[in-house]
Amino acid sequence: MPMKHSTYSVIIVGSGIAGLYAAIKLAQTAKVPDGILLLTKSNLSECNSRYAQGGIVGVLDENKQDSISLHVADTIKAGCGLSDFNVVKFISENSQHAIKDLMACGVNFDKNEQNQLNFTLEGAHSVRRILHVGGDATGFGIEKALVDKIKNDKAISSNITIYEQTLAVELLLDAHDNCRGLISFNAATKEYEALYAPVTVLATGGTGQIYKYTTNPSVTTGDGLALAIKAHANIKDMEFIQFHPTALSLENSDARFLISESVRGEGAKLINQNGEYFMQNHPQKDLAPRDVVAREIYSQISRGNKVFLDASFIGVDKFKKRFPNIYKTCLENNIDITKDFIPVSPAAHYCMGGIKTEVNGKTSIKNLYAVGEAACTSLHGANRLASNSLLECVVCAYELVNTISKQDLQSSKIIDETVLNTIKKYTETDGCNANNCNVSELKAKLKNIMWNNVGIIRTEDSLLTALSEINKIDEIFDNKNMCSSLEEYELRNMLLVAKCIINAAINRKDSIGAHYRADSVKNISENIQTDSIGKSEDRADDSKIIA
Ligand code: FAD
Ligand code: SIN
Repeated sequence: MPMKHSTYSVIIVGSGIAGLYAAIKLAQTAKVPDGILLLTKSNLSECNSRYAQGGIVGVLDENKQDSISLHVADTIKAGCGLSDFNVVKFISENSQHAIKDLMACGVNFDKNEQNQLNFTLEGAHSVRRILHVGGDATGFGIEKALVDKIKNDKAISSNITIYEQTLAVELLLDAHDNCRGLISFNAATKEYEALYAPVTVLATGGTGQIYKYTTNPSVTTGDGLALAIKAHANIKDMEFIQFHPTALSLENSDARFLISESVRGEGAKLINQNGEYFMQNHPQKDLAPRDVVAREIYSQISRGNKVFLDASFIGVDKFKKRFPNIYKTCLENNIDITKDFIPVSPAAHYCMGGIKTEVNGKTSIKNLYAVGEAACTSLHGANRLASNSLLECVVCAYELVNTISKQDLQSSKIIDETVLNTIKKYTETDGCNANNCNVSELKAKLKNIMWNNVGIIRTEDSLLTALSEINKIDEIFDNKNMCSSLEEYELRNMLLVAKCIINAAINRKDSIGAHYRADSVKNISENIQTDSIGKSEDRADDSKIIA
């Protein structure tokens, strides 16, 4: 099949907050003679970012009870000492600038009657420091402002080409392992295109869809991670998957709509069907770190109990005003929070690990950058502090732009034999599903295996079982390179990322943070020594141990 070839100054993959904000800043500040390509596999607005509820951390001068050192300490404590102190400090120090710049981009954070910003509270924060939009629609509010800016601000839109329904399927590496761009696949027309650029940025988000129960939308299948693993980029901390404690849990539905932690921040309490307030003995009660609360709920459910949020402590009027979308979604599902408790259970929510990067997104591969949830800057350690993710997206995207705008972004067409050979594969065939297998069935099988064996509680046995079951799916699918549809590419990527998570989880024998090994001798999280705090580990690279 003939193939289109195009050249840009920068290619950004993904239109979540990290990708959109990077594109806007690049268009505003850098010289991009060949323009910016923003590539996204669904429509421009679909991503995890859009569904963010609780908010974004802002350590602001006007918030007198807060300080950088308090936020740094909370982040490192929640991350069980595995965060990198310098990264945490840098991101915290830059949060004020990030929030002000989002406001300049048109984001309207909620304010009180005195026109002051409203700060809320979530798990493991020692003070109120989380800003929100539309009550519980923070992600929607930020994403909408950024999309509007990209579409309507002429100075920006004239520099950005947008490809929707188009996914990145392979990175183009030359003989020296420099990234020269990527191959894209249009899910509607099934056409491939070779895209070249001096800089490629992966802003492809997390991995939630690898699990049966997740708060993440269907696009979140770990694609960027899989591309980076295939390109032998360094990968870090993949055993640390965050399970959000409170997703709406309805009988006869696998969907898991999030009930924000800020609902507990504003006073809701976790109880079981007997009315027992089971978090009451923890020093931070319902606002203990996420991994702790998720395990408590998991333990209740494993004993046959049902778990609910009792929102009556908030007051009906306040709840309706503060959490309008949660109120509406509950009502649509016949849960009237004015008289009913909200049934909840944990669900896969966030991937602390990812493509190993510096704060400016630099990966181990030359010319390849990663930002947002796809990246691992070591901000989060073993368990992310709530609302630190959106902040990381914005601060790191800004740094990324600072770094690459100093580079010559004139595209030089250095396409060597190695790049040409990769491209050739895609011109020789129109893709094939060799075994004609049922891709949705295999996806569902994979998600079940991960939920049952690589979930909130793991053991070496459960991890080895998962690996062997996933290898069987791999054999059936047998489609590691060329695929013929979006679903097939997603399955290929999910299998690769799942194995990466399992390998990392097998290698970490002790329990810490979100990685809980029921067969471990030590639970390091219960014993964090202050002198080990903030020293990020230098462990084996997770990508190098794929079975
Ligand atoms: P995303 O927003 O996930 O965007 C990834 C983009 O990449 C999407 O556009 C996707 O379509 C695209 N993409 C993926 N693969 C490909 C491919 N192969 N080719 C082309 N495009 C591709 N964090 C907070 O800090 N505060 C919160 O209140 C909060 N609430 C949350 C609530 C929910 C329900 C969820 C799911 C997450 C929440 N998080 C929150 C986490 C946070 O939203 C995410 O970590 C963050 O938005 C990630 O942003 P991102 O730009 O890295 O990725
Ligand atoms: C929430 O609102 O509970 C999600 C916040 C987050 O994931 O940071």
